[in-house]
Amino acid sequence: MSLNKANIVLGVTGGIAAYKAPEIVRRLIDKGASVRVVMTASACDFVKPLVFQAVSGHPVGVDLLDEAAEAAMGHIELARWADAVLVAPATANTLARMTAGAADDLLTTICLATRAPCWVAPAMNSVMWEHPATATNITTLQSRGVRVLGPGIGSQACGETGAGRLLEPDDIVSSLEQQFAAAGEERVLMDAKDACVVNAEPMLLADSHVLITAGPTREALDPVRFLTNHSSGKMGFALAEAAVDAGASVTLIAGPVRLETPGGVTRIDVVSALDMHKAVLRHAPNNDIFISVAAVADYRVAKQQAHKIKKSEGEMTLQMVRNPDILAEVAALEARPFCVGFAAETKDLDIYARGKLTKKNLDMIVGNLVGQATGGFNTDDNAVEVYWPNDGYASFASRSKRLLANDLITLLSQRYRAHQDPVN
Ligand SMILES: Cc1cc2nc3c(=O)[nH]c(=O)nc-3n(C[C@H](O)[C@H](O)[C@H](O)COP(=O)(O)O)c2cc1C
Repeated sequence: MSLNKANIVLGVTGGIAAYKAPEIVRRLIDKGASVRVVMTASACDFVKPLVFQAVSGHPVGVDLLDEAAEAAMGHIELARWADAVLVAPATANTLARMTAGAADDLLTTICLATRAPCWVAPAMNSVMWEHPATATNITTLQSRGVRVLGPGIGSQACGETGAGRLLEPDDIVSSLEQQFAAAGEERVLMDAKDACVVNAEPMLLADSHVLITAGPTREALDPVRFLTNHSSGKMGFALAEAAVDAGASVTLIAGPVRLETPGGVTRIDVVSALDMHKAVLRHAPNNDIFISVAAVADYRVAKQQAHKIKKSEGEMTLQMVRNPDILAEVAALEARPFCVGFAAETKDLDIYARGKLTKKNLDMIVGNLVGQATGGFNTDDNAVEVYWPNDGYASFASRSKRLLANDLITLLSQRYRAHQDPVN
């Protein structure tokens, strides 16, 4: 299914980015779609409905309880007419009302009454976006099958810098178009009925090959004992899933974890740091992006015992030797992929993460504080700080690792593109 001849309900809500929505209507119409615009009352304070009527060529829906509108194309008819509902820009308030299942205006009623798939393109101040209430609402909406486009990262009208910008109209429409095309009519309709697909921002990494490591490594002492760490692998697996959703071919090299392989991911299981080193160096040259999430042991025992070490009187001393620094080696390759590291620290995150970024010559580093009451190893939620060269910085407050993975893939694809094409 393409956007050509598709019926799109565009919901416009009351954010500063509403001024970009007429451009979205024009782009959709350029693709051959038929567009009906529905505005919240607040949106009408930012842009007049007349503007949307002029660009869409149809009356604009604003009031739910409007006799004339109901007699023409009422809310249920609009909900049935739609092949897709796109809310752009989507305010924090409308996202909260959609999450609550509210039906107190025309737009939220249509969102509730339609069987069509629904996309939201959030746009808000970065603090609002990072607020746990918004993060939880987004996760809930995604779990119901709502697809989230963006938000983008950068400077905002309110003077903040961070995540929360509305994606550009072209990007919104091309994402929608690619999802329609990729999914095919049957799939789109099935998704709408099943409402259970969690999607990252689509096709940001189309045609890219992404290599990810995840989980801990195990360093054997003897045939029955090993040294390891608390890494669960959840963050790396979530990133692999988000990268596939973003259109990448993904190879995941996993240490010993009990996690299911995300659909579409090629998984290679390894045990020790040396196994991981070998597998990564074999695959890195064939990939565009390397994301090193695994918590690789820095040391292994100098001599692994062939038989179980027996108890003896007194202390036991283990002699350890350094394992290779896999990420640094990949970053030093002549034809190297775009390299993203993860730094788990128990203190001074900023200093250590920036230090690793420079020392290992990385393109991006994601730092998280571990050993806290919440977040980090073995948890479902995480909060991270991201750094890149020339003082680049973004902060992501606590949210589910799956949602965080979407946000990181969005940021990573922007940094990757900037790296490929530094002039633009
Ligand atoms: C100048 C101005 C700009 C605003 N921009 C945004 C915004 O970008 N995103 C947002 O979520 N809320 C923004 N708000 C707050 C919303 O307008 C407010 O939450 C409103 O209730 C949203 O209503 P709606 O979701 O029904 O459209 C802004 C408010 C003002 C006064």
